[in-house]
Amino acid sequence: MARKGKVTVVGAGFYGSTTAQRLAEYDIVETVVLTDIIEGRPEGLALDMNQSRPIEGFETTVVGQTTGTDGSGYEAIAGSDVVVITAGLPRKPGMSRMDLIETNASIVRSVAESVARHAPDAVVIVVSNPLDEMTALAQIATGFPKHRVLGQAGLLDTARFTNSVAERLCVPVGSVTTLTLGSHGDTMVPVPSRCSVDGKPLGDLLPPTDVDELVERTRNGGAEIVALLKTGSAYYAPSAAAARMARAVMEDAGAVMPVCAWVDGEYGISGVYLGVEAEIGLVGVRRVVETDLTDSERAALEAAAEAVRAKQADVQHL
Ligand SMILES: NC(=O)c1ccc[n+]([C@@H]2O[C@H](COP(=O)([O-])OP(=O)(O)OC[C@H]3O[C@@H](n4cnc5c(N)ncnc54)[C@H](O)[C@@H]3O)[C@@H](O)[C@H]2O)c1
Repeated sequence: MARKGKVTVVGAGFYGSTTAQRLAEYDIVETVVLTDIIEGRPEGLALDMNQSRPIEGFETTVVGQTTGTDGSGYEAIAGSDVVVITAGLPRKPGMSRMDLIETNASIVRSVAESVARHAPDAVVIVVSNPLDEMTALAQIATGFPKHRVLGQAGLLDTARFTNSVAERLCVPVGSVTTLTLGSHGDTMVPVPSRCSVDGKPLGDLLPPTDVDELVERTRNGGAEIVALLKTGSAYYAPSAAAARMARAVMEDAGAVMPVCAWVDGEYGISGVYLGVEAEIGLVGVRRVVETDLTDSERAALEAAAEAVRAKQADVQHL
Protein backbone atom coordinates (compact mmCIF):
# COMPACT_ATOMS: atom_id res chain seq x y z
CA MET A 1 0.00 0.00 0.00
CA ALA A 2 1.37 3.43 -0.95
CA ARG A 3 1.69 5.80 1.97
CA LYS A 4 2.18 9.42 1.06
CA GLY A 5 2.74 12.70 2.77
CA LYS A 6 3.08 14.17 6.21
CA VAL A 7 0.54 15.38 8.76
CA THR A 8 1.53 17.38 11.84
CA VAL A 9 -0.50 17.58 15.03
CA VAL A 10 0.45 20.53 17.24
CA GLY A 11 -0.35 19.90 20.90
CA ALA A 12 0.15 16.44 22.40
CA GLY A 13 -2.58 16.61 25.02
CA PHE A 14 -5.65 14.38 24.98
CA TYR A 15 -7.02 15.73 21.71
CA GLY A 16 -3.71 15.89 19.87
CA SER A 17 -2.37 12.51 20.92
CA THR A 18 -5.58 10.66 20.04
CA THR A 19 -5.70 12.47 16.69
CA ALA A 20 -2.10 11.43 15.95
CA GLN A 21 -2.90 7.84 16.92
CA ARG A 22 -5.98 7.70 14.68
CA LEU A 23 -4.05 9.19 11.75
CA ALA A 24 -1.20 6.73 12.22
CA GLU A 25 -3.61 3.79 12.41
CA TYR A 26 -5.25 4.81 9.11
CA ASP A 27 -1.84 3.87 7.65
CA ILE A 28 -2.22 6.24 4.70
CA VAL A 29 0.58 8.77 5.31
CA GLU A 30 4.33 8.33 5.58
CA THR A 31 4.78 10.41 8.73
CA VAL A 32 2.72 11.89 11.53
CA VAL A 33 4.58 14.57 13.52
CA LEU A 34 3.34 15.28 17.05
CA THR A 35 4.59 18.40 18.86
CA ASP A 36 4.14 20.02 22.25
CA ILE A 37 5.92 22.51 24.48
CA ILE A 38 6.14 19.96 27.32
CA GLU A 39 9.69 18.63 27.08
CA GLY A 40 9.74 14.94 26.13
CA ARG A 41 5.98 14.42 26.01
CA PRO A 42 5.60 14.26 22.21
CA GLU A 43 8.74 12.12 21.86
CA GLY A 44 7.50 9.71 24.54
CA LEU A 45 4.02 9.43 23.04
CA ALA A 46 5.46 8.97 19.54
CA LEU A 47 7.68 6.12 20.72
CA ASP A 48 4.72 4.51 22.47
CA MET A 49 2.56 4.78 19.30
CA ASN A 50 5.36 3.39 17.11
CA GLN A 51 5.65 0.39 19.42
CA SER A 52 1.96 -0.34 18.79
CA ARG A 53 2.66 -0.73 15.04
CA PRO A 54 3.52 -4.46 15.06
CA ILE A 55 0.34 -5.18 17.03
CA GLU A 56 -2.04 -2.94 15.11
CA GLY A 57 -0.29 -3.58 11.79
CA PHE A 58 0.45 -0.12 10.44
CA GLU A 59 3.68 1.36 9.03
CA THR A 60 3.13 5.12 9.37
CA THR A 61 5.93 6.53 11.51
CA VAL A 62 5.12 8.92 14.34
CA VAL A 63 7.78 11.54 15.10
CA GLY A 64 7.64 13.43 18.40
CA GLN A 65 9.14 16.91 18.69
CA THR A 66 9.32 19.30 21.62
CA THR A 67 8.92 22.90 20.47
CA GLY A 68 9.61 26.20 22.20
CA THR A 69 7.24 29.15 22.34
CA ASP A 70 10.04 30.98 20.47
CA GLY A 71 9.39 28.69 17.48
CA SER A 72 12.36 26.39 18.10
CA GLY A 73 11.89 22.79 16.98
CA TYR A 74 9.42 23.67 14.23
CA GLU A 75 11.88 22.51 11.53
CA ALA A 76 10.35 19.06 12.18
CA ILE A 77 7.06 20.09 10.58
CA ALA A 78 8.66 21.19 7.27
CA GLY A 79 6.85 19.80 4.24
CA SER A 80 3.64 19.00 6.13
CA ASP A 81 0.60 18.65 3.90
CA VAL A 82 -1.78 19.15 6.82
CA VAL A 83 -1.27 20.73 10.25
CA VAL A 84 -3.90 20.12 12.94
CA ILE A 85 -3.69 22.74 15.71
CA THR A 86 -4.90 21.36 19.06
CA ALA A 87 -2.66 23.51 21.29
CA GLY A 88 -4.53 25.37 23.99
CA LEU A 89 -6.38 24.97 27.23
CA PRO A 90 -9.56 22.89 27.44
CA ARG A 91 -12.62 23.99 29.45
CA LYS A 92 -13.18 23.31 33.13
CA PRO A 93 -16.69 22.54 34.47
CA GLY A 94 -18.86 25.69 34.36
CA MET A 95 -16.66 27.44 31.78
CA SER A 96 -17.88 28.43 28.33
CA ARG A 97 -15.58 27.97 25.36
CA MET A 98 -15.43 31.75 25.11
CA ASP A 99 -13.76 31.93 28.55
CA LEU A 100 -10.66 30.46 26.88
CA ILE A 101 -10.36 33.14 24.22
CA GLU A 102 -7.49 35.27 25.55
CA THR A 103 -5.21 32.46 26.65
CA ASN A 104 -5.81 30.33 23.60
CA ALA A 105 -5.54 33.27 21.20
CA SER A 106 -1.96 33.91 22.23
CA ILE A 107 -1.12 30.20 21.92
CA VAL A 108 -2.84 29.78 18.54
CA ARG A 109 -1.31 32.97 17.14
CA SER A 110 2.24 31.91 17.98
CA VAL A 111 1.68 28.36 16.72
CA ALA A 112 0.12 29.64 13.47
CA GLU A 113 3.06 31.98 12.84
CA SER A 114 5.50 29.09 13.21
CA VAL A 115 3.36 26.91 10.95
CA ALA A 116 3.39 29.61 8.26
CA ARG A 117 7.18 29.84 8.51
CA HIS A 118 7.91 26.11 8.34
CA ALA A 119 4.97 24.56 6.47
CA PRO A 120 3.87 27.34 4.12
CA ASP A 121 1.90 25.02 1.81
CA ALA A 122 -0.06 23.16 4.48
CA VAL A 123 -3.80 22.96 4.95
CA VAL A 124 -4.46 24.01 8.55
CA ILE A 125 -7.23 22.37 10.58
CA VAL A 126 -7.91 24.22 13.84
CA VAL A 127 -9.57 22.56 16.83
CA SER A 128 -8.54 24.84 19.73
CA ASN A 129 -11.45 26.64 21.39
CA PRO A 130 -13.33 28.89 21.01
CA LEU A 131 -13.28 27.19 17.64
CA ASP A 132 -14.79 29.69 15.23
CA GLU A 133 -12.66 32.53 16.59
CA MET A 134 -9.43 30.48 16.72
CA THR A 135 -9.98 29.40 13.10
CA ALA A 136 -10.32 33.04 12.04
CA LEU A 137 -7.22 33.94 14.04
CA ALA A 138 -5.16 31.11 12.53
CA GLN A 139 -6.03 32.38 9.05
CA ILE A 140 -4.97 35.91 9.96
CA ALA A 141 -1.75 34.78 11.64
CA THR A 142 -0.70 32.39 8.85
CA GLY A 143 -1.81 34.71 6.05
CA PHE A 144 -2.85 31.54 4.17
CA PRO A 145 -5.67 31.66 1.62
CA LYS A 146 -8.97 31.20 3.44
CA HIS A 147 -9.76 27.88 1.76
CA ARG A 148 -6.55 26.45 3.31
CA VAL A 149 -7.60 27.18 6.92
CA LEU A 150 -10.64 25.45 8.37
CA GLY A 151 -11.94 24.40 11.75
CA GLN A 152 -13.30 21.21 13.25
CA ALA A 153 -16.66 21.41 14.99
CA GLY A 154 -19.60 20.44 12.79
CA LEU A 155 -18.50 16.87 12.18
CA LEU A 156 -18.30 16.36 15.95
CA ASP A 157 -21.56 18.15 16.76
CA THR A 158 -23.33 16.18 14.02
CA ALA A 159 -21.92 12.91 15.38
CA ARG A 160 -23.20 13.82 18.85
CA PHE A 161 -26.64 14.57 17.40
CA THR A 162 -26.63 11.27 15.48
CA ASN A 163 -25.59 9.29 18.55
CA SER A 164 -28.35 10.87 20.68
CA VAL A 165 -31.00 10.11 18.06
CA ALA A 166 -29.76 6.50 17.72
CA GLU A 167 -29.79 6.01 21.50
CA ARG A 168 -33.24 7.58 21.84
CA LEU A 169 -34.78 5.41 19.11
CA CYS A 170 -32.67 2.29 19.83
CA VAL A 171 -31.47 2.07 16.22
CA PRO A 172 -27.94 1.67 14.77
CA VAL A 173 -26.03 4.94 14.35
CA GLY A 174 -25.54 3.93 10.71
CA SER A 175 -29.26 4.32 10.04
CA VAL A 176 -29.33 7.92 11.30
CA THR A 177 -28.51 11.07 9.34
CA THR A 178 -28.29 14.44 11.14
CA LEU A 179 -26.72 17.83 10.55
CA THR A 180 -25.54 20.79 12.61
CA LEU A 181 -24.39 24.12 11.22
CA GLY A 182 -23.58 27.52 12.74
CA SER A 183 -21.12 28.08 15.53
CA HIS A 184 -19.42 25.62 17.90
CA GLY A 185 -21.12 27.30 20.83
CA ASP A 186 -24.37 28.85 21.93
CA THR A 187 -25.41 29.63 18.37
CA MET A 188 -24.93 26.09 17.10
CA VAL A 189 -27.70 25.33 14.59
CA PRO A 190 -28.87 21.71 14.66
CA VAL A 191 -30.93 21.18 11.49
CA PRO A 192 -33.87 18.84 12.26
CA SER A 193 -35.22 19.19 8.70
CA ARG A 194 -32.10 17.34 7.50
CA CYS A 195 -32.43 14.55 10.07
CA SER A 196 -33.76 11.13 9.19
CA VAL A 197 -33.71 7.51 10.26
CA ASP A 198 -33.56 5.00 7.41
CA GLY A 199 -34.75 7.80 5.18
CA LYS A 200 -37.78 8.69 7.34
CA PRO A 201 -37.87 12.30 8.59
CA LEU A 202 -37.04 12.56 12.29
CA GLY A 203 -40.18 14.70 12.74
CA ASP A 204 -42.32 11.70 11.72
CA LEU A 205 -40.72 9.49 14.36
CA LEU A 206 -40.62 11.74 17.40
CA PRO A 207 -42.87 14.51 18.78
CA PRO A 208 -41.45 18.06 18.51
CA THR A 209 -40.67 18.22 22.24
CA ASP A 210 -38.46 15.13 21.96
CA VAL A 211 -36.69 16.58 18.91
CA ASP A 212 -36.14 19.82 20.86
CA GLU A 213 -34.63 17.83 23.73
CA LEU A 214 -32.20 16.08 21.37
CA VAL A 215 -31.29 19.43 19.79
CA GLU A 216 -30.59 20.90 23.23
CA ARG A 217 -28.49 17.92 24.25
CA THR A 218 -26.45 18.33 21.05
CA ARG A 219 -25.88 22.02 21.76
CA ASN A 220 -24.64 21.12 25.27
CA GLY A 221 -22.80 17.99 24.16
CA GLY A 222 -19.34 19.25 25.08
CA ALA A 223 -20.42 20.71 28.44
CA GLU A 224 -22.14 17.44 29.40
CA ILE A 225 -18.83 15.59 29.04
CA VAL A 226 -16.78 18.36 30.76
CA ALA A 227 -19.16 18.16 33.75
CA LEU A 228 -18.77 14.38 33.98
CA LEU A 229 -14.97 14.36 33.55
CA LYS A 230 -14.44 17.26 36.00
CA THR A 231 -11.03 17.83 34.48
CA GLY A 232 -10.38 18.14 30.73
CA SER A 233 -12.82 17.90 27.87
CA ALA A 234 -13.92 15.33 25.28
CA TYR A 235 -11.37 13.86 22.92
CA TYR A 236 -12.42 10.51 21.46
CA ALA A 237 -15.17 11.86 19.20
CA PRO A 238 -13.37 15.19 18.61
CA SER A 239 -10.18 13.44 17.48
CA ALA A 240 -12.18 11.12 15.22
CA ALA A 241 -13.60 14.22 13.53
CA ALA A 242 -10.26 16.02 13.09
CA ALA A 243 -8.56 12.87 11.82
CA ARG A 244 -11.37 12.28 9.28
CA MET A 245 -10.97 15.84 8.00
CA ALA A 246 -7.20 15.43 7.67
CA ARG A 247 -7.78 12.15 5.85
CA ALA A 248 -10.22 13.79 3.41
CA VAL A 249 -7.50 16.34 2.58
CA MET A 250 -4.74 13.75 2.21
CA GLU A 251 -6.89 11.53 -0.03
CA ASP A 252 -8.26 14.52 -1.99
CA ALA A 253 -11.55 12.83 -1.26
CA GLY A 254 -14.08 15.51 -2.17
CA ALA A 255 -16.07 14.36 0.85
CA VAL A 256 -18.83 16.75 1.93
CA MET A 257 -18.79 17.30 5.68
CA PRO A 258 -19.82 19.99 8.16
CA VAL A 259 -16.76 22.11 9.01
CA CYS A 260 -15.96 25.66 10.04
CA ALA A 261 -15.19 27.31 6.69
CA TRP A 262 -14.91 30.79 5.23
CA VAL A 263 -18.32 31.79 3.90
CA ASP A 264 -18.41 34.17 0.97
CA GLY A 265 -21.95 34.71 -0.25
CA GLU A 266 -23.46 31.29 0.52
CA TYR A 267 -26.81 31.53 2.33
CA GLY A 268 -26.56 35.28 1.68
CA ILE A 269 -23.79 35.44 4.34
CA SER A 270 -20.32 36.83 3.67
CA GLY A 271 -16.99 37.47 5.32
CA VAL A 272 -17.07 35.10 8.27
CA TYR A 273 -15.84 31.66 9.39
CA LEU A 274 -18.97 29.62 10.07
CA GLY A 275 -20.11 26.03 10.42
CA VAL A 276 -21.35 24.92 7.00
CA GLU A 277 -21.11 21.84 4.83
CA ALA A 278 -18.10 21.90 2.55
CA GLU A 279 -16.35 19.69 0.03
CA ILE A 280 -12.89 18.80 1.33
CA GLY A 281 -9.87 17.97 -0.81
CA LEU A 282 -6.14 18.61 -1.19
CA VAL A 283 -6.69 22.37 -1.39
CA GLY A 284 -8.62 22.35 1.89
CA VAL A 285 -12.14 23.63 1.24
CA ARG A 286 -12.99 23.07 -2.43
CA ARG A 287 -16.37 24.76 -2.04
CA VAL A 288 -19.08 25.46 0.50
CA VAL A 289 -22.14 23.32 -0.18
CA GLU A 290 -25.50 24.97 0.49
CA THR A 291 -28.38 22.86 1.72
CA ASP A 292 -32.13 23.56 1.88
CA LEU A 293 -33.09 25.03 5.23
CA THR A 294 -36.44 25.95 6.74
CA ASP A 295 -37.05 29.66 7.40
CA SER A 296 -36.31 29.27 11.11
CA GLU A 297 -33.11 27.25 10.49
CA ARG A 298 -31.96 29.90 8.02
CA ALA A 299 -32.70 32.68 10.50
CA ALA A 300 -30.73 30.77 13.16
CA LEU A 301 -27.77 30.41 10.79
CA GLU A 302 -27.84 34.14 10.04
CA ALA A 303 -27.94 34.89 13.78
CA ALA A 304 -24.98 32.54 14.33
CA ALA A 305 -23.04 34.33 11.59
CA GLU A 306 -23.61 37.72 13.20
CA ALA A 307 -22.63 36.43 16.67
CA VAL A 308 -19.34 34.93 15.49
CA ARG A 309 -18.61 37.84 13.15
CA ALA A 310 -18.44 40.22 16.11
CA LYS A 311 -16.12 37.91 18.07
CA GLN A 312 -13.94 37.16 15.05
CA ALA A 313 -13.38 40.88 14.57
CA ASP A 314 -12.16 41.06 18.20
CA VAL A 315 -9.55 38.29 17.81
CA GLN A 316 -7.50 40.36 15.37
CA HIS A 317 -6.31 42.35 18.38
CA LEU A 318 -5.57 39.37 20.64
N1 LIG B 1 -13.25 21.91 18.25
C1 LIG B 1 -13.72 20.97 19.01
O1 LIG B 1 -14.71 20.34 18.69
C2 LIG B 1 -13.04 20.64 20.32
C3 LIG B 1 -13.42 19.53 21.06
C4 LIG B 1 -12.72 19.22 22.23
C5 LIG B 1 -11.68 20.04 22.64
N2 LIG B 1 -11.35 21.13 21.90
C6 LIG B 1 -10.24 22.02 22.28
O2 LIG B 1 -9.01 21.43 21.92
C7 LIG B 1 -7.96 22.00 22.73
C8 LIG B 1 -7.08 20.87 23.28
O3 LIG B 1 -7.83 20.03 24.13
P1 LIG B 1 -7.11 18.86 24.93
O4 LIG B 1 -8.16 18.06 25.58
O5 LIG B 1 -6.10 18.16 24.08
O6 LIG B 1 -6.31 19.70 26.05
P2 LIG B 1 -4.96 19.23 26.81
O7 LIG B 1 -4.78 20.16 27.96
O8 LIG B 1 -5.01 17.77 27.09
O9 LIG B 1 -3.82 19.48 25.73
C9 LIG B 1 -3.43 20.71 25.26
C10 LIG B 1 -1.96 20.61 24.94
O10 LIG B 1 -1.56 21.81 24.26
C11 LIG B 1 -0.20 22.01 24.65
N3 LIG B 1 0.23 23.37 24.34
C12 LIG B 1 -0.04 24.53 25.01
N4 LIG B 1 0.59 25.57 24.40
C13 LIG B 1 1.24 25.06 23.33
C14 LIG B 1 2.06 25.63 22.30
N5 LIG B 1 2.32 26.94 22.27
N6 LIG B 1 2.57 24.80 21.36
C15 LIG B 1 2.31 23.46 21.39
N7 LIG B 1 1.55 22.87 22.32
C16 LIG B 1 1.03 23.66 23.29
C17 LIG B 1 -0.21 21.71 26.14
O11 LIG B 1 1.10 21.51 26.64
C18 LIG B 1 -1.07 20.46 26.18
O12 LIG B 1 -0.30 19.27 26.09
C19 LIG B 1 -8.68 22.83 23.80
O13 LIG B 1 -8.66 24.20 23.46
C20 LIG B 1 -10.09 22.30 23.77
O14 LIG B 1 -11.04 23.25 24.23
C21 LIG B 1 -12.00 21.44 20.75
